[in-house]
Amino acid sequence: MSSPQRLPDGRLIVRHEGRDYQIPKACPHRGAPLADGYVNGPFLRCPWHGATFDVRTGERLRGPACPNLPQPDLFQADLSQSGSSGESER
Ligand code: FES
Repeated sequence: MSSPQRLPDGRLIVRHEGRDYQIPKACPHRGAPLADGYVNGPFLRCPWHGATFDVRTGERLRGPACPNLPQPDLFQADLSQSGSSGESER
């Protein structure tokens, strides 16, 4: 199960199977705000032209030709301030 979380600074965090993935602000195709994208499971679809990425790997699965997302950052430490039950082990 996945749940997206939009932070006040515009970043999107997708939680999937207990891991949090920080999504870049801009789509690598034409720069759409990925915080406005659609999340379905581990997949994120860009709101402008529909490029679809696997948030676990950053791989572009469909849509217009463009680079993959950067390797995802595991983003676990700072979610506690946004009301999530962060899984920080640090
Ligand atoms: S800007 Fe994201 S698919 Fe075009």
